[in-house]
Amino acid sequence: MDPVYKKVERCYQSIQGNLPFVPYLALVLGSGLGDLADGYPCEGAIEYQDIEGFPVSTVPGHKGRFIFTHVEDVPVVMMQGRVHYYEGYPMADVVLPVRLMRRMGAEVLFLTNAAGGASYSLAAGDLMLIKDQISCFVPSPLIGPNVEEWGARFPDMSHIYDPELMDAVRESAAELQIGLKEGVYLQLTGPAYESPAEIRMCRGLGADAVGMSTACEAVAARHMGYRICGLSCISNLASGMTDTPLSHKEVQETADRVAPLFKQLVARSIGKIKLKVN
Ligand code: HPA
Repeated sequence: MDPVYKKVERCYQSIQGNLPFVPYLALVLGSGLGDLADGYPCEGAIEYQDIEGFPVSTVPGHKGRFIFTHVEDVPVVMMQGRVHYYEGYPMADVVLPVRLMRRMGAEVLFLTNAAGGASYSLAAGDLMLIKDQISCFVPSPLIGPNVEEWGARFPDMSHIYDPELMDAVRESAAELQIGLKEGVYLQLTGPAYESPAEIRMCRGLGADAVGMSTACEAVAARHMGYRICGLSCISNLASGMTDTPLSHKEVQETADRVAPLFKQLVARSIGKIKLKVN
């Protein structure tokens, strides 16, 4: 049996008995956005460190657990804290949590992150719907033998972000009168923030926002047939676009400031996604 497949199966077997329900939607909470989970009654929690072989994040601001709860009556598993490639984990481990949530039964993946704005039409504090993505210098999570149980060897990536789910987020933002930007997310490895020249390169490639997560998870998730939705919190303008040096503290502070709006938008969108898709 393929070792990557086996590892996901082993993780699943070890937690199967602790799942309070089969989640419909998997929500990945990005840097500084993990507190969203605190507003919901916890119907079950699984610490990453209690799952055999599971990668545990080392980044401040990233807790490490799955939380099970209902958002607008939709059964949701939330990932409070994700694992990043720059932490040194193999790519197969970085996307393992997303694969595991699919194994739990999730059909929709809602990815969130904090990102730097590379487009001059973005400002710190904006929320950006991810329309498409670019993976830059980050290895594909699909390299290696294909796991046929999960998906095709050469999966189509022409609609990574589901058009119907994008409409659900747009409609939710309009109802809540929350301004919503849209754009292309580009993933670099990090962990250093980019140089100004790298940001010019990203812009030239067609990126609106840059970050260190998400695109690899989306590729692994699309391969497995998830329907995907992505939302970035623009925590800062990217390197070279302002005079202030970038810091993780600034990223967290902006995420904290935007958290109430972010939370409302995510919750409304989740309710609408379930109605639209079924
Ligand atoms: N660059 C890369 N990743 C980020 C940034 C950034 O400016 N802000 C938040 N995550």
